[in-house]
Amino acid sequence: MKLLDGKEASSAILNRIREKVAANLAGGLRPPHLVAVLVGNDGASETYVASKVRTCENIGFKSTLIRFENSVTEAELIKCIQKINTDPEIDGLIVQSPIPSHISFNRITETISPAKDVDGFHPLNTGRMVQNSESIIAATPKGILMLLEHFKIDTTGKLCVILGRSNIVGMPMSVLMARNSWPGNCTVTLCHSKTPDPGVFTRQADIIIAAIGRPGFLKADMVKEGAIVIDVGISRIADDSRKSGYRLSGDVDFEHVAPKCSYITPVPGGVGLMTIAGLMHNTLIAAGYSIN
Ligand code: GUN
Repeated sequence: MKLLDGKEASSAILNRIREKVAANLAGGLRPPHLVAVLVGNDGASETYVASKVRTCENIGFKSTLIRFENSVTEAELIKCIQKINTDPEIDGLIVQSPIPSHISFNRITETISPAKDVDGFHPLNTGRMVQNSESIIAATPKGILMLLEHFKIDTTGKLCVILGRSNIVGMPMSVLMARNSWPGNCTVTLCHSKTPDPGVFTRQADIIIAAIGRPGFLKADMVKEGAIVIDVGISRIADDSRKSGYRLSGDVDFEHVAPKCSYITPVPGGVGLMTIAGLMHNTLIAAGYSIN
């Protein structure tokens, strides 16, 4: 079993981005600028956004965090986004999900300029992705592709089973793994909450991508010997023995599944770090910098 180490892969990508930014700054260009909008005080969202802002600093990007109370109206949020859309000093914009239920996430997503939509959630970007034309790809699926690329994982002709059909991970992942490219060219099965017995599918899978947010869901008896397992889950479990009061758990019962795998991602230290690398790469592209 080999760990698909998100720290190793994301550091390699972030180092390349840092070098590119430094070279362009030396040439007189301004740094890429990412704006993150955070509504409310959800603990996990606070942590994710703080880590995105910190990464921006580390690689030479400018970042701005805009906070709103939970009571913000949809109209106020839309006004803020429209202002950012026309600000030439801003390259990328994300609105951290989840947002309060009185605001439509789809309406917010559709308000963001597709060119600044570094989360890749706008229907134009999603549609282009489906048509395999140039687009901004959602950060987590993109991060997973970059992880498979970094570790030179052969995906062609493999059976890939995805657990979860969210707009943020499962749905785009299913499209990307089926695309005629590498990583990709898989035969894809998408399981979801109405799939009676996902184990029937995961037991046949060469690659399993678990993105359902149910701690320890994927058990050893659902995985075949030699499978590649990518764990997108990152749930907080109450744990009094930790200073924070919680520990993180993925969707995979790592202790029992890992010995059967050829490759597996750890949680934390796997897909979470790759999501941030994906977001930074998207922001670099939105700023008009190219990098391979
Ligand atoms: N919440 C969980 N994942 C994401 C993500 O990739 N982007 C945003 N904006 N919110 C999220």
